Amino acid sequence: MRLYVNIDHVATVREARRTDEPDPVRAAILAEAGGAEGITVHLREDRRHIQDRDLRVLMEVVRTGVNLEVAAEKEVVEIAIQARPMQVTLVPEHRQEVTTEGGLDLSSPNTFQRVREASDRLREAGIRVSLFVDPEPEAVEASLRVGAEAVEFHTGEYANARGEAKGRELARLHRAVREGRDGGLGVHAGHGLTYENILPVAALPELEEVNIGHSIISRAILVGMERAVRDMRALLREAPARISEPGTWVPPLGY
Ligand code: PXP
Repeated sequence: MRLYVNIDHVATVREARRTDEPDPVRAAILAEAGGAEGITVHLREDRRHIQDRDLRVLMEVVRTGVNLEVAAEKEVVEIAIQARPMQVTLVPEHRQEVTTEGGLDLSSPNTFQRVREASDRLREAGIRVSLFVDPEPEAVEASLRVGAEAVEFHTGEYANARGEAKGRELARLHRAVREGRDGGLGVHAGHGLTYENILPVAALPELEEVNIGHSIISRAILVGMERAVRDMRALLREAPARISEPGTWVPPLGY
């Protein structure tokens, strides 16, 4: 399973003072040294964390691959085409949100059309397109109609669920992952994944990639970036041996 480290929140700390440190580019280099298979950044329309300069420099420096998250809006899609990242993940974006709140609502004809147009532009430019969607069969089916190469399933509800609901959310995610894989899509997952909740997700055998930001950056503040990434990589490696029945949730002691 590939680990893509989202370094947005390194830029969040920098933007808290509108200065030049900490530099997300240095964070990306250390994340790669810690074993990240790729670097994710979200160029938001309000530029609240990652800036255009960050993307330009990252494209020169990152040796693994850059997964660029953008809204299906002309301005940022054109920037993505100029930057030529390895992959673009199209995400919904609302100005007031603290973070991305849900997957793309492809059941809305308006959103579907905007996503399809953005996806066509990117794919014509030779860029692999992934869509951030909820783990639902309808979203998989709509992503196939858009013509995307991959989907990233929103794991926020899994992350927030407690007790038995955790098991239901994990089973829902697993079903969607299988449906995506069976449809020929690359299958990724992300949002709200932490050192505490990653094991059952990392044990899903069909899942190819996880995108993790806040939890890794939070640990990196305390122990350093390279070690924080190494710790997460170790959990991804151990997961299949530690979870005997993939897709089932066994609450840890004291949960
Ligand atoms: N995947 C997508 C599409 C996201 O928008 C985000 C948050 O920016 C993440 C993954 C990472 O989420 P988290 O920071 O909770 O790990």
